[in-house]
Amino acid sequence: MDLPVPSSRSREHRVHVITHGCQMNEYDTHTVSSELVAGGHRIVDTPADADLIILNTCAVRGKPVEKVVTMLGEFRKQRLAGRDLTVGMMGCLAQLEEGQEIARKFGVDILVGPGAITDILDAIEAVDRTHEPFWSLEFKDDLHTHLTPAPDTLTGFLTIMRGCNHNCTYCIVPQTRGPEVSRSLESILHEARAMQQNGVQEIYLLGQNVNSYGLGRSDLPSFAELLRRVADTGIPRVKFTTSHPMNFTSDVIDAVAEHENICNYIHLPVQSGSDRVLRRMAREYRRERYLEIVAEIKAKVPDVVLSTDIIVGFPGETEEDFGATLSLYEEVHYDTAYMFMYSARPGTPSYKHFDDLPRDVKTERLGRLIERQKVWSHRKNQRWVGRELRVLIREAATDSQYVVGHSDQNHTVLVPREQVGEMGLYPVTVETATPHTLYGTVAGAVPESIPLLMAS
Ligand code: 5AD
Ligand code: SF4
Repeated sequence: MDLPVPSSRSREHRVHVITHGCQMNEYDTHTVSSELVAGGHRIVDTPADADLIILNTCAVRGKPVEKVVTMLGEFRKQRLAGRDLTVGMMGCLAQLEEGQEIARKFGVDILVGPGAITDILDAIEAVDRTHEPFWSLEFKDDLHTHLTPAPDTLTGFLTIMRGCNHNCTYCIVPQTRGPEVSRSLESILHEARAMQQNGVQEIYLLGQNVNSYGLGRSDLPSFAELLRRVADTGIPRVKFTTSHPMNFTSDVIDAVAEHENICNYIHLPVQSGSDRVLRRMAREYRRERYLEIVAEIKAKVPDVVLSTDIIVGFPGETEEDFGATLSLYEEVHYDTAYMFMYSARPGTPSYKHFDDLPRDVKTERLGRLIERQKVWSHRKNQRWVGRELRVLIREAATDSQYVVGHSDQNHTVLVPREQVGEMGLYPVTVETATPHTLYGTVAGAVPESIPLLMAS
């Protein structure tokens, strides 16, 4: 595949990109890194080796913003002490007034919003030439046709649409990523095929709300049809995230049920089990509808693994509302859940109109929910003991006796290191289960591995 031609020349930089937040940011980091390499710059593994550090930021909660401030403070200190360092900021925070104030305060040189990442080479060239900050906050059309080269990894992220047309009252994303824009089918399939040729074993289709793919566009297929087309490339695994219950249609469930290589794993954020809270969040479904979707998924996709996002302590959430979230847990039996304490984000409707609950109330409820989820995750994981799963082993685990990967259903699975010579797909018999991890042994031979050296 042709690499993009750099639009301008600047001195060669040693660049380190630090990525916070979601998988869409990971994909954007890969896009930017590919542009940098095509533009003659070098990607380095540690911040210490870099003369240009780019922070790819997240703004969805307060904590990741604090992290960025801490890092920028450190870079400023080093620059004052004489280090030759250019600093860039991209991602959701860059698009917000809040992030721009932070950028001014800490003397950030390059600021590119989530819609302007293809400006990165021009930005570097401009800063080198003028020694003035370069900002670009446009939502550029070329981003949707831009072809990102395939990664050299076993899992490849592939953004199929950007932005969000929902307006959940707690969420800053519609402001940072703008309205929904779907990419063309051709560019998506082109990237998928390139990944397959490059040895990628698992494609993760990404979007803030993948189920809205192609909505209102007669030239594009539905998301279910797109899923089938990507699966038809023959890539061993296809996963997708994130789904919105409002746009989640039966044909998506059918596609998951019918295609062997579309994983039986569905992430379906519910946010709350209480209709009163869902209304205040401006989620456009109610508990009953959500449970209907879950019932249909379970009926059509045996052994499906379900996960969700939950916000605990949304403004006005009563003990009764929280009880409704707990009871939803008891009905759905999630395999995993991403549980967040509500974070009041400046610029969101809930920040403006509602009072935050006391922190100790939020913390206590989150603690209780995590305890329930642990019980459920443990029970659900134990169902797999003695059974065989197909696992994409990707890297050495923190505990060096093991290597780690993910099952088709997205479980984290650890396998003794000596059983795995090369990274790749392995049949694994599950031996034991904890709430977060399955431990197993490689069953039989090595049918579908690919020659990659094991990370040490
Ligand atoms: N506070 C806490 N969690 C939030 N999320 C989005 N905005 C907020 C917020 N203000 C969570 C939602 C979403 C996930 C990506 O982040 O659960 O699904
Ligand atoms: Fe945010 Fe709601 Fe859009 Fe998800 S669907 S990105 S939570 S506004």
